[in-house]
Amino acid sequence: MRIGILTGGGDCPGLNAVIRALVLSLQGRHECIGIERGFHGLITRRLRPLQPEAVRDLLDEGGTLLGTHNRCDPFAWQGRDASGEVLDCMREAGIEALFAIGGDGTLTLAERFSRRGVPVIGVPKTIDNDIVGNERSFGFDSAVAVVADALVRLKTTALSHGRVMIVETMGRDAGWIALEGGLAGGADAILIPERPFDLDALAAGLRERLAAQGHALVCVAEGATAAGGAQYWRHLPGGVARLGGIGQALVEELSPRLPDTEVRCTLLGHLQRGGAPTAYDRVLSTRFGVAAAEALEAGAFGITIALQGDRCLRLPLGEVAGRTRCVPAGHELLCVADALGVISP
Ligand code: F6P
Repeated sequence: MRIGILTGGGDCPGLNAVIRALVLSLQGRHECIGIERGFHGLITRRLRPLQPEAVRDLLDEGGTLLGTHNRCDPFAWQGRDASGEVLDCMREAGIEALFAIGGDGTLTLAERFSRRGVPVIGVPKTIDNDIVGNERSFGFDSAVAVVADALVRLKTTALSHGRVMIVETMGRDAGWIALEGGLAGGADAILIPERPFDLDALAAGLRERLAAQGHALVCVAEGATAAGGAQYWRHLPGGVARLGGIGQALVEELSPRLPDTEVRCTLLGHLQRGGAPTAYDRVLSTRFGVAAAEALEAGAFGITIALQGDRCLRLPLGEVAGRTRCVPAGHELLCVADALGVISP
């Protein structure tokens, strides 16, 4: 069979490791074709053969050798429905099945193409860890390691200058990165979208930490909000809006409440998506790639791979598409953060 492989959405540590696992485990039986820049490559017809030799060394490489696109919806592309062009491209290139490696956006598109008759297998990817039915995404562990490392490094300045240092993480509407990164980095306060915070209670908590230890660390998710408040978005020319900015807003809100203390913010941004995957993510990506190859051999299409417990399962794409997995109330990590007194006051 001739198989297409694409990576969609934001780049993420472990994408190359999934491509490697797919190509190596299908070699000799199927021909793999790389599609460049996600679904965009099926509109622009940018395809290339993927040989085992080209992927063998990719295990620890960040990014994706195929490139990606996080704004290409073929069903609404530059004012037209280009989904027919995608189907034409696949048919003319002899691509009989498609692996779509991506986050909720890519899996939602995969599900729509599956309903149009494309044999498709999804592989969940996101540093945000927010894919429904999937307990752990590859890329998440790598992002958490960056957040934890940043907090530990910023503690040096917090300690030396007696400051409150705020770290703003990615994560969109889910607080997983901030929660786990904040716990791993020893944050004194963790603010996540699932638990709107009270500014005065936060300031009071930080005052206590300042009195006790002379400094404090705050880890805030980009999607977090004050109780009754709204998320922060940056509106850019061309109608582009980007989530984020709460870290700096907190500096402005907390500074007058902590008059003797300097409050500073570090925006981690794409540092969280860059670089090599951690050992955990290399193994998880490899498992996902092999599980997806096995699904192909079994003729299981219209599904996505998902990790539940210690097993890689197949879930119908329809169960996953268009939904977000946030930190549920009562989750053990929330209870741990509560027990330490570090979660959104
Ligand atoms: O979904 C992954 C993610 O990194 C989010 O955490 C973040 O909000 C978004 O992508 C940023 O995307 P972009 O690179 O397009 O700014």
